[in-house]
Amino acid sequence: MITEKEYKSRRERLCKQLRKNSVAVLFASEVKIRSNDTEYPYRQNSNFYYLSGFTEDNSALMFVRKKRKTKTILFVEKKDEALELWHGKRVGETEAKKQFLVDEVHSIEKFSHILKTYLQDAKSLYYDFNLQYNKVKILKRYSKNIATMSNVALLVQKMRLIKSNSEVRCIQQAIDITQEAHHRVMKLNKDQMYEYELQAELEYTFTKNGAYSDAYTSIVAGGNAANTLHYVSNDKLLKEGELILIDAGCEYKYYASDITRTIPVSGKFSSSQKKLYNMVLEVQLKIISMIKPGVKRSELHKESEKLLCEGLIKLGILQGKCKKLLKKQKHKKYYPHGIGHWMGIDVHDEAPYKKENGKEIVFNKGMVLTIEPGIYIDENDKDAPKKYRGTGIRIEDNILVTSKGCKNLSKRIAKTVEEIEALYQS
Ligand code: GLY
Ligand code: MN
Ligand code: MN
Repeated sequence: MITEKEYKSRRERLCKQLRKNSVAVLFASEVKIRSNDTEYPYRQNSNFYYLSGFTEDNSALMFVRKKRKTKTILFVEKKDEALELWHGKRVGETEAKKQFLVDEVHSIEKFSHILKTYLQDAKSLYYDFNLQYNKVKILKRYSKNIATMSNVALLVQKMRLIKSNSEVRCIQQAIDITQEAHHRVMKLNKDQMYEYELQAELEYTFTKNGAYSDAYTSIVAGGNAANTLHYVSNDKLLKEGELILIDAGCEYKYYASDITRTIPVSGKFSSSQKKLYNMVLEVQLKIISMIKPGVKRSELHKESEKLLCEGLIKLGILQGKCKKLLKKQKHKKYYPHGIGHWMGIDVHDEAPYKKENGKEIVFNKGMVLTIEPGIYIDENDKDAPKKYRGTGIRIEDNILVTSKGCKNLSKRIAKTVEEIEALYQS
C-alpha cells in the first residue's frame, strides 16, 4: 500500500524541481471508446497515478509555484446522482478534501478558469508533451505570457526510476500472484489444449487474486509460435513434445510484473530442448549475478550477447569465432531483443535510460528491471541443426537493485528443468 503521505512527498519532490513562477498540470487518462457507447476498461495515467493515487477519470492535478511556495490542487468530477447511477460513485470535492493531502480540491469544471488565473503571473508551464490535442489547446489558449514550456512527464519518469520500499512491496505482490498463475499452468498436461485455455488459467488466477488482470497482453506460444516475439493470438492447439513460451504477468495495485517461463507441453524436456534451455538459463543466471550499483544495462546486454553467442557455437547453431560473429551481428538472428527494461507502474516503465547529458544511467539501489535473454530458432531455419528448429526459449525475471547487489524478486517461480518437471509431477 502506498500511503497518502508518500504521494504527498512525491508531489513535494516534484515541486522542488519546478522553476520559480511556474504552473504544472497533469491530467487523468481519458476514457477510450471501444465502439458506440461501450468503453475499454479504464486505467489511470501512470504519472498522474504516481503523484496522486487517484483513479478517477476526468480529473487533473495542478502545481503552482511562486518563489519558494507551492500550492497543489486536485480537480475532481463533482458528485452527480444521475451520472453515478450509470458509472458508479465519485469521490467528489468534499470527500477528496479529507482523503488527499493536497492544498485545495476543486470541481474539474473550474479547471480552465483557475488555470487562466495562475498563468497570468507565471513564466513557465509544465505539461505532458504526449497530451491529447484537445487538452493542449486549452493550455495554449491561456499561455500567451509563458516563456518556457517543459515536459513534466520527464521529471516524473525520472522520479519513478527509484522505487520506495512500499513500491517494491506492490511489485512483489504482483509477482507472487503471477507465480501462482505460472505454477498452475506448469502442473497441467497441456497436450491437446489450446493456447488460449492456458491464457484463461493465467488470467483467472490474476483476477481471482484481485489483480487488475494483466500488465500486458499474455503471450502463450507453443512450438514455433514462440519465435514471434509479440505473439498474442494464442489460438493454436498444443502438441506433445513442444515447448510453450509463456510471457505473462499481472498488474496489482497499479504495479506490474513481467515473467517468462518456457516449459514442456507434457511435463518433460527432450534432451535437445534441455540443452538449449540450460544454455539460456546459465546466461540468465550469469547476467543477474552481475547486477549491482554502478553497473550499466548496456554492459549486461553486451555480455548477454557474448555468452549467448558462445552458447550457440557450442550447440552447433552458429559456426565460427565468437568475436567475428558478434561483429557481423550474426547472433541477432537468434537473439534479436534487449536484455531487459525498467519495470514499475508500467511493464516497460517510462523511466529514462540516459541522463540529460546523454550518458547512460548506471544502476542504483531501488531500481527494478527485467532480465530476459532468449534464443529463437525458426522451424524453417536451414542453418540450425534440425533438432533445435521450431523452438523459442526466453527466461525472464524481475530484479531489484540493492545497496550491494541485487535481489531476484521472482526467484521462487520454478525455473530449472528439475523444478519445472517436478511441479508437473506434483
Ligand atoms: N512482456 C513484455 C516484455 O517482456 O518486455
Ligand atoms: Mn519484459
Ligand atoms: Mn515479458
